[in-house]
Amino acid sequence: MTKDKRYLIGVTGTPGSGKSTFAKKLSKSIGAKVIEINNIAIENKFFSKIDKDNTHVLKIKLLDRYIKKMTNNLNEPLILVGHIIPELTIDFDVIFVVRCPLNTILKRLQKRNYNKNKLRENILSEAFDYCNYNIKKRNCDIIEIESDKDKRDANK
Ligand SMILES: Nc1ncnc2c1ncn2[C@@H]1O[C@H](COP(=O)(O)OP(=O)(O)O)[C@@H](O)[C@H]1O
Ligand SMILES: [Mg+2]
Repeated sequence: MTKDKRYLIGVTGTPGSGKSTFAKKLSKSIGAKVIEINNIAIENKFFSKIDKDNTHVLKIKLLDRYIKKMTNNLNEPLILVGHIIPELTIDFDVIFVVRCPLNTILKRLQKRNYNKNKLRENILSEAFDYCNYNIKKRNCDIIEIESDKDKRDANK
């Protein structure tokens, strides 16, 4: 497979930042399939146990290996979405990092009934720009996106 045929796009960011929404829009405009990494993990049972915050713990190496195999012979563009992208060693061509104001993420995650620890963890993650920081040395294009530029839901 030649490099120009393979076009693997990553969309990452803190939960609630707007990754899935952005990925759907991107998919419509470029005609690429979207796969949520979380769904790959669920379908393949790449979770080991439930931690103290009632969150499933991911078997990252297994997931990484699976996605590598899955994307090895791509002959059309594919968009993979997940906050876990910085933890994976997948060779993306471009990664979009979706950013969002902290108060907006907080409101979005409260609607998802995240507990206090998970809220704190994710707000800190966004505040420290965790995703960008952890992918900055990758040999691919990195594009930062502001998810609620028009602030439509910032004050809801
Ligand atoms: N650009 C945007 N403008 C307004 N609301 C948005 C925008 N992007 C996402 N949202 C809203 O924020 C919430 C979380 O978005 P989602 O795409 O599910 O985030 P993620 O996939 O990062 O967890 C959804 O209710 C979605 O409708
Ligand atoms: Mg999502």
